[in-house]
Amino acid sequence: MTEHVLTQTRDRIARIELNRADKKNALTAEMYAAMADAVVAAEADAQVRVTLIHGKPDCFTAGNDLKDFLERPPHGEDSPVFRFLQAISTARKPLIAAVAGPAVGIGTTMLLHCDLVYAAPNARFQLPFVPLGLVPEAGSSLLLPRIAGYQRAAELLLLGRPFTAEKALAAGIVTEVIPEGELLEYALDAALGVAALPPSSLRATKALMKDRQAQPLAQAMQEEGAQFRACLSSPEAREAMTAFLEKRKPDFSRF
Ligand code: COA
Repeated sequence: MTEHVLTQTRDRIARIELNRADKKNALTAEMYAAMADAVVAAEADAQVRVTLIHGKPDCFTAGNDLKDFLERPPHGEDSPVFRFLQAISTARKPLIAAVAGPAVGIGTTMLLHCDLVYAAPNARFQLPFVPLGLVPEAGSSLLLPRIAGYQRAAELLLLGRPFTAEKALAAGIVTEVIPEGELLEYALDAALGVAALPPSSLRATKALMKDRQAQPLAQAMQEEGAQFRACLSSPEAREAMTAFLEKRKPDFSRF
């Protein structure tokens, strides 16, 4: 159990709230484990029709905890992060995300597995895998080119720069941009709407859209995972992550 992930089920909605504000909701192994358990529990609970993931009004998540990456990197496919990705990529019930503030790394890639994504104008997305000496994860090397088109995906994944909610909307990552003060209520309303729909038809429709790409997605996640884990111990990645924690610019000139 961790107090950094809050879960609650009400009105047939399972809510998962990221709650580590002092570290910008950076995700630790314990948090991934709690999130994976919550998604699996929601799938198994006949009372639940939809899952809503959100952070704070000024922060969704700064992505994986970089200290964790350096000190206890994920080792294999039974690691908490992989369990979480498995859970959201195979979820039969709809997943909704409400995103405000930073949504970095997995904070953006997890959205590619959601069915509805609402973002506030203050949302700042980023896929900084290359700048960190890493490769994409969560199936994003397959899903993002499909969702956004190759050129848009190439810009976001190769350069790894932050981008706005407007750009995320144009890339197809975001469903709708909602004013900051209304975001969570809007997402909850959408979840209530989904929860009121005929559940079998809803799940069958999601399955029809998702199942055709299930096999290539599982393969992409495996291949990405193997390369990602290898990159984590590379000198380039260690320099990038250490520089962030030491609050300095990384220096890649010697590589
Ligand atoms: N891992 C570990 N700690 C993190 C973190 C992360 N991914 N992101 C933020 N933090 C910590 C900072 O070290 C800082 O801790 P401190 O107060 O003990 O010094 C605290 O959270 C606040 O972060 P700060 O950078 O001061 O906030 P900001 O508002 O200026 O910037 C971000 C927010 C998200 C843009 C910035 O923190 C960032 O770029 N984080 C790293 C994102 C990243 O590379 N994630 C990995 C993706 S694979």
